[in-house]
Amino acid sequence: MKVEEIDVAEQMGEVGRILREYDRKKGILIHALLAIQEDHGYLPEDVLRKLSKKLDLPLAEIYSVASFYKQFHFTPRGRKVVRVCLGTACYVRGAKKVLSTLEERFNIKVGETTEDLAMTLETVGCIGCCGLAPVATVNEDVVGEIGLKKLDRLIKTIG
Ligand code: FES
Repeated sequence: MKVEEIDVAEQMGEVGRILREYDRKKGILIHALLAIQEDHGYLPEDVLRKLSKKLDLPLAEIYSVASFYKQFHFTPRGRKVVRVCLGTACYVRGAKKVLSTLEERFNIKVGETTEDLAMTLETVGCIGCCGLAPVATVNEDVVGEIGLKKLDRLIKTIG
């Protein structure tokens, strides 16, 4: 028998059964978290509590798993998620000014969301469009060569 053919869980009897059950629940958990985030845009605590009961998994365990993955969020997100690139090329071409203008205009800091949920402001490392610096992404779209006029237009589209 090859090492990879050994089913450790099976050879461990009751402990193995528990481990298999735990693995199964963890598999379900990730899919459930993705579906919840798809529905709500983030992971609301009350929904996670219901999930905890349904899967018979401690809430702390659910938070622990969700926290491990960067794509899960625990607070509501803005309809537009603006990520200003702070990579070197963007930085030297004015990304800090773009960022501070957005912070001032919407009265939020990086990592925050406006009260009306219009926008979440984040930063990102180089996204590979250095030739267009300074660059930001708005949801899935890339906005490059952000000068004053373009920044003004961007702000208007956000609200
Ligand atoms: S540094 Fe901003 S896209 Fe490369």
